[in-house]
Amino acid sequence: MSYETILIDRKPEGYVVITLNRPDKLNALNIQLIEELYDAIGEIGRDKSVRGVIITGAGEKAFAAGADIAELNRLDDSTGQRYSEQGQIAFSMIERLNIPVIAAVNGFALGGGCELAMACHIRLASEKARFGQPEVNLGIIPGFGGTQRLTRLVGPARSIEYNLTGDMIDANTAERIGLANHVYPADQLMEKAEEMMMKMLAKGPIALCKTLQAVVASVDLTIEEGLALEARLFGECCGTEDFKEGTGAFLEKRPANFTGK
Ligand code: COA
Repeated sequence: MSYETILIDRKPEGYVVITLNRPDKLNALNIQLIEELYDAIGEIGRDKSVRGVIITGAGEKAFAAGADIAELNRLDDSTGQRYSEQGQIAFSMIERLNIPVIAAVNGFALGGGCELAMACHIRLASEKARFGQPEVNLGIIPGFGGTQRLTRLVGPARSIEYNLTGDMIDANTAERIGLANHVYPADQLMEKAEEMMMKMLAKGPIALCKTLQAVVASVDLTIEEGLALEARLFGECCGTEDFKEGTGAFLEKRPANFTGK
């Protein structure tokens, strides 16, 4: 499928790079972009040959500078809730992809841009990255998960501060508070994201999938529920060829060759 607001680059190594592509508007997330992202993620989820995703922004300045404010301006109390829900559905679909999704945050990740990055499993930031939830400046609250995912990532005190002040969070602060996993010089960001992706893709695909299932679910579960889920998924791994291969390769002192079976 071809898109106008995102670029899809399928790498021979088995992962896909999605580039948010409205650089003249700092990759602001308009409805068309969110719909195209939703379609692309749906397609990736159904395509068993895709084993990972990197999401980044076109141009030098932005990952995504938020939802498109020109479109936001037209919302009212009857259309606002639906708008918020549709963005949430698209972003939750990213979070629930059972393959690793890395956000390569190359610049501004504000509002919906920060929310999109937080729906990804890992955030790698360029030194130029600036995160934040500035919706209060517009008289609204975050609508694509910002009140929920920021709280889970950095804790309620910091989440309340950033959501109430709208302050931008520089890359090093983001790393310190757990919002970004790592910070790299801008010209190394994609290389580092690809390096991390390749490291993960060398592991057993079933183990990656079940790890993501367990960890993503963990934030909504009690410890007893989470441990029960972990035990079930662990047991399922023990029935796979990848498990026999991984443990056998260790014992035979050779690299494992996982097949995803
Ligand atoms: N929605 C729509 N358009 C946006 C946008 C957004 N969220 N963010 C930036 N743009 C557009 C600008 O209107 C401008 O378009 P124009 O050239 O047609 O006038 C273009 O992108 C470049 O942005 P500009 O503001 O000129 O860049 P800057 O470097 O001076 O400032 C920001 C960068 C990120 C500080 C500033 O663009 C900004 O505050 N954006 C809004 C951030 C926000 O509130 N996001 C949350 C939305 S819920």
